[in-house]
Amino acid sequence: MIAAEVQDLRAYYTTTTSTVQRTVHAVDDVSLQIREGEVYGIAGESGCGKTTLLKVLLGMVSPPLKVVSGSVRYRVADGSIDVLKLSEQELRSIRWSVVSYIPQGSMHVLNPVRKIRDTFADFIAAHRPDWVARRDEHVREYLAELGLPDSVLGAYPHQLSGGMRQRVTIALATILAPSLVLADEPTTALDVVVQRGVIQLLQDIRQRTNSTLVLVTHDMGVHANLADRVLVLYAGQVMEEAETTELFESPLHPYTQYLIRSLPKFADRAERVSIPGHPPALDNPPTGCRFHPRCPYVMDICRSVVPPLIETRSDHRVACHLVNPPNG
Ligand SMILES: Nc1ncnc2c1ncn2[C@@H]1O[C@H](COP(=O)(O)OP(=O)(O)OP(=O)(O)O)[C@@H](O)[C@H]1O
Ligand SMILES: [Mg+2]
Repeated sequence: MIAAEVQDLRAYYTTTTSTVQRTVHAVDDVSLQIREGEVYGIAGESGCGKTTLLKVLLGMVSPPLKVVSGSVRYRVADGSIDVLKLSEQELRSIRWSVVSYIPQGSMHVLNPVRKIRDTFADFIAAHRPDWVARRDEHVREYLAELGLPDSVLGAYPHQLSGGMRQRVTIALATILAPSLVLADEPTTALDVVVQRGVIQLLQDIRQRTNSTLVLVTHDMGVHANLADRVLVLYAGQVMEEAETTELFESPLHPYTQYLIRSLPKFADRAERVSIPGHPPALDNPPTGCRFHPRCPYVMDICRSVVPPLIETRSDHRVACHLVNPPNG
């Protein structure tokens, strides 16, 4: 069963200074399906369009971001919702209870001048007025289920460690038991041991509620631990998508191979393979395959022809002329 589906999506930022109009092709022809109950990972270096894709998945589209074409649908019990056609009010009515969001840099989203208890109280008053009478019990029960101490309720955000603050933010974003949770770099900026706790928490929440989790991170190690399938984005486009074990065992795209090779390995002191160069500026992306200026296997055709995204095996899609030679 499909939980959400993105079709032929193009979402651009358009900014105008006095003389120049600049269009950033942040998400450029992306199609994907997120299946019910899975952890769907979205990978790619900084600036590849991960956050932009999540924003559109949430229907959070406002200038300078614009959806140029394509659609986003959620599956619900009685059919599907066309997310990009919903009004602000309709979006508000499904946010947090049906689809929820843990924003990038979310360790800083908690209101610094409110105790955690008051932040939960404000949230429940706004989204579940029917809970207000038993509000404190609901919150305490939920924190206990997630293994968080209820002493956090009396604290201000700055009194908590980074890892605890992140876990409280995740608790807040999931207390209404949404069926789809979108998490943007939830472990970035945490040290490895704390990261493990946050990964475990996300795993526990998903298993308890059977929810679907979309996990955005540039950290391939986190994908290896948590994701069922992984989508690799580069410069606003899909390079590869596969079931996680398959992706790590037989990555087909040179970009995916680089991302995996740059992972630290246990007891391996060799220097990490870094990817030469940077993702391109997306106001003027490279022609042909967007990865071609950095690809060690670049061929002539890669400079001019965009490789089609092709399913090479069941559940494994890749866009690369090496894998699908045009005359092969
Ligand atoms: N408000 C904005 N106005 C103009 N361009 C933007 C805006 N926000 C993002 N961009 C551009 O869109 C592209 C994609 O950005 P996005 O934030 O989606 O990438 P990302 O993969 O989430 O990166 P990171 O890993 O750094 O979070 C980048 O080129 C970025 O500079
Ligand atoms: Mg981002």
